[in-house]
Amino acid sequence: MYTPKSAVIKEIISENHLVKTFRLSMVDSQGQTIPFRFEAGQFVMLSVPHRGEAPISISSIPANPSFFDLTIRKAGLLTSAIQEMAVGDHLGVRGPFGHGFPLDDLLGKDLLLVAGGIGLAPLKGVMESCLSWKKVKKLTDISLTLCYGSRTPEDICFRATIEKWQQDGVSCRLTVDEADPSWQGEEGLVTGLLADQSSSGDGYALVCGPPVMIRATIARLQAFGWSDEHILTTLERHMKCGVGVCGHCHLDNTMVCTDGPVFTLSQLQEMKVAELG
Ligand SMILES: Cc1cc2nc3c(=O)[nH]c(=O)nc-3n(C[C@H](O)[C@H](O)[C@H](O)COP(=O)(O)OP(=O)(O)OC[C@H]3O[C@@H](n4cnc5c(N)ncnc54)[C@H](O)[C@@H]3O)c2cc1C
Ligand code: FES
Repeated sequence: MYTPKSAVIKEIISENHLVKTFRLSMVDSQGQTIPFRFEAGQFVMLSVPHRGEAPISISSIPANPSFFDLTIRKAGLLTSAIQEMAVGDHLGVRGPFGHGFPLDDLLGKDLLLVAGGIGLAPLKGVMESCLSWKKVKKLTDISLTLCYGSRTPEDICFRATIEKWQQDGVSCRLTVDEADPSWQGEEGLVTGLLADQSSSGDGYALVCGPPVMIRATIARLQAFGWSDEHILTTLERHMKCGVGVCGHCHLDNTMVCTDGPVFTLSQLQEMKVAELG
């Protein structure tokens, strides 16, 4: 579990000036694709020799085991090295690790995704799974909504995906903290988009972004009647092993890497996660 396996870069999509999505396939020593199965919300430990290893969420739909996507923001040594890589280059992958979103509970329910910046990455596979389920089952009365906030218009990620979701009937509401002359949409924090997002009872709200955004969003959702069991979020902690051994991601009596990274608000309250108030 500590030895990375090899993945080859099949495609690279530039999301914005700092973020790229890498489509990867796991390969054996002969270069043949081998299946890689995962749940939406799980993460891998991604590595480059001499540049380090870091946890990265899987951002694609868990439908086709021949590939998976990682959406990576340039932050430090490892992610800067990866940003310079090209199609055909190889990366080290351990995992998938952690518990993903409970897709069986979410399919067929109203879904509200609230994301900030690259926080949409771990939620994207859930929306795509629910959208595909809605189409296959021909369910017309399910509401799928995205409320997405970015710092500026040029920080928006997944533009092509969001456009496609809109064409497929997802209600997509975007806002930026700081508009520029090119921006025709809403301006302000993502919590400003939640005013008419009251709970339908059995629907789920999935939240991911910086801690301050998660905290403010959860407070709003609670005020609009969402139950703690139906608010899910995914936590980021410093991680080393990814498998519950090193203790780096320790939180109360919980290891975020193995018990999470996806938690319901009820679970976080039991764990008394201070940053979520
Ligand atoms: C479960 C999980 C999923 C993640 N998914 C993604 C993803 O999909 N895409 C993505 O781009 N990044 C993701 N990250 C964050 C990513 O792992 C870090 O940014 C990582 O440190 C980058 O490695 P680096 O060597 O390039 O930068 P480093 O040199 O390690 O770090 C750069 C800066 O980020 C800070 N930092 C590192 N890790 C964290 C952390 N966990 N929380 C807060 N600050 C941190 C460091 O202190 C430093 O200031 C995820 C993290 C976790 C725990
Ligand atoms: S990262 Fe080592 S215990 Fe979680």
